[in-house]
Amino acid sequence: MTKKPPFLGGLFSSCFFVALLHEIILVMKKFQVITLFPEMFTGVFESSMMWKAQKDSIVELSTINLRDFGLGPRKQVDDTPYGGGDGMLLMIEPLWNAVLNAKENDPTAKILLMTPRGARWKQALAQEYSETDHGYIFICGRYEGYDERILELVDQEVSVGDYVLTGGELPAMTIVDSIVRLIPGVLGGESSAEIESFSDGETLEFPQYTRPLEFNNLVVPEVLLSGHHANIKSWREQQSRRT
Ligand code: ADE
Repeated sequence: MTKKPPFLGGLFSSCFFVALLHEIILVMKKFQVITLFPEMFTGVFESSMMWKAQKDSIVELSTINLRDFGLGPRKQVDDTPYGGGDGMLLMIEPLWNAVLNAKENDPTAKILLMTPRGARWKQALAQEYSETDHGYIFICGRYEGYDERILELVDQEVSVGDYVLTGGELPAMTIVDSIVRLIPGVLGGESSAEIESFSDGETLEFPQYTRPLEFNNLVVPEVLLSGHHANIKSWREQQSRRT
C-alpha cells in the first residue's frame, strides 16, 4: 500500500481551506449603511435572523458613521439650504466621502438612497436584490433632506411608503431585513420564505394557529383539525386570496 507523503495531505487540506475561504469571500454579501445614528442598528443587526446570517458568513452587515466624514473640528455634516428655507440639509462633501469609503470596501456594491421620493419597496424587489452577486450601500437621509448632488452616486432611490419618517434608518433596516431573509441558507425552513405573504405579489399569508385548541372562547377552524390534506390546502388557498 502506498502512503501519501504527509506534505501532500497538508497541501490538499490547505487547498481545501483556501477554496472554502474563497467561496466564503465570494458569496458574502455586504450591506453597508451610512448613517448619523449607527447605534440604531445594533439591536437589529445583532439579533435573530440577521445575527445568524452573519454568524454563518452569508452576509456582512456594517454601519459607516457619517459624522466621521464631517467637516472641521466640529465634524459638521449639515448646513442651511441655498435659496432659504427651514431646517438643515446634509452637506454633499461628508456624504460623498462616506459613499466613496463604502465603495472602497465593496467596489461593485449598488448605492441605495432612502427617500420618500423613491421607488416603492416591494417583495419582488427584495427577491431580486437577494439574488444578485453584489452588495448594497444604504444612504440614510436625516434632517430636512440632503444636497441633491449626491444623486450622481446613487443607483436607486427607495421609499418604504407614502409617509415621511425622521430619517432613512428605519427604511434601511426594513429593506436589509427583507433582502437578507431571502438569501438561500438564511432561514431555517427554506420553503417558508416562498410560501408566505406577498411572495407572488398577489396573495396573502393564510391564518395559522397553534395550541391551545380553545382560548377565551376562540377556537381553531375545524378544517385544520380534520387531517384532510386536500381540504386544508384549499382552505388555505382560499384564505390567502382574502383582500
Ligand atoms: N426617509 C424618510 N421617509 C422615508 C420613506 N418613507 N422611505 C424611505 N426613506 C425615508
